[in-house]
Amino acid sequence: MRDRFGREIRSFRISVTNKCNLQCFYCHKEGHNSDNNRYMTAEEIGIIAKTSTKFGVRKIKISGGEPLLRKDICEIIENIRDEKIKDISLTTNGILLEHLADKLKDAGLNRVNVSLDTLNPELYKKITKFEDVERVINGIKKAIDVGLTPLKVNFLAMSLNIKDLQNIMEFCRDVGAILQIIEFIPLKETLKKYYYDISSIENEIKEKADKVITRKFMQNRKKYIVDGLEIEFVRPMDNSEFCMHCTRIRLTYDGYLKPCLLRDDNLVDILTPLRKGENLESYFVECINRREPYFKL
Ligand code: 5AD
Repeated sequence: MRDRFGREIRSFRISVTNKCNLQCFYCHKEGHNSDNNRYMTAEEIGIIAKTSTKFGVRKIKISGGEPLLRKDICEIIENIRDEKIKDISLTTNGILLEHLADKLKDAGLNRVNVSLDTLNPELYKKITKFEDVERVINGIKKAIDVGLTPLKVNFLAMSLNIKDLQNIMEFCRDVGAILQIIEFIPLKETLKKYYYDISSIENEIKEKADKVITRKFMQNRKKYIVDGLEIEFVRPMDNSEFCMHCTRIRLTYDGYLKPCLLRDDNLVDILTPLRKGENLESYFVECINRREPYFKL
């Protein structure tokens, strides 16, 4: 199905919890604070995911909070699996990844994105309030070992960690990960000082690149290959076409369909009708009809 702006729906991002074992100061916490009885079961998540395929969804990304905190994360993945879904991925901070990687792969997960803004233990602690960056590194290596690939490292580019980019690039090249450099969205006035304009970095990388690819259906994201390392740029603030190429809808951890990452005022409750045994399709239609570009041309 297409929305009012002609945009097709292809991907579905499902948040399975709002809990997290880190406390990154910049976090754009998704969803509100519902009571526990709006937590979706693995079965409910599966039903909603399968319904989404009728509207064109072919890719699912599991997110949080930290999705690996769900004890039933493997069951969730098993329930999401469907012949129409060509790609199931999961975004994680990597802290619990090492001992779960095998089980996630067996459950049917295709690949993971791991958030890693620095390799420096002190800075890692400053950003996340958690000390052990070593666990994340081991998690990444293990995930690549068991084939949760292509594995992407999410590097959020900010004034306080930009000097670590070179190290992260070398690390990604060594382990065979793709590097995603993400533009920081300062969600509050107090975060503005951490904004870093990554244009100069992108230009530098463009010059060194052996190959440049524009991924039209991925919000016009650019991808560069430099000495065997794949680098992607995600620039929501800079790229005026970012929203026009968005093919994604979302599900909050507490059972609301969400037409846009950056808004919370137009959600569609899908959990209540599911629990009443209603057909869910009209709720997807409503969500898709509520979609509109956030960053306008
Ligand atoms: N701006 C941009 N990206 C953010 N993320 C979290 N908060 C922000 C923000 N304020 C991204 C990080 C993380 C992923 C889960 O969400 O890149 O890796």
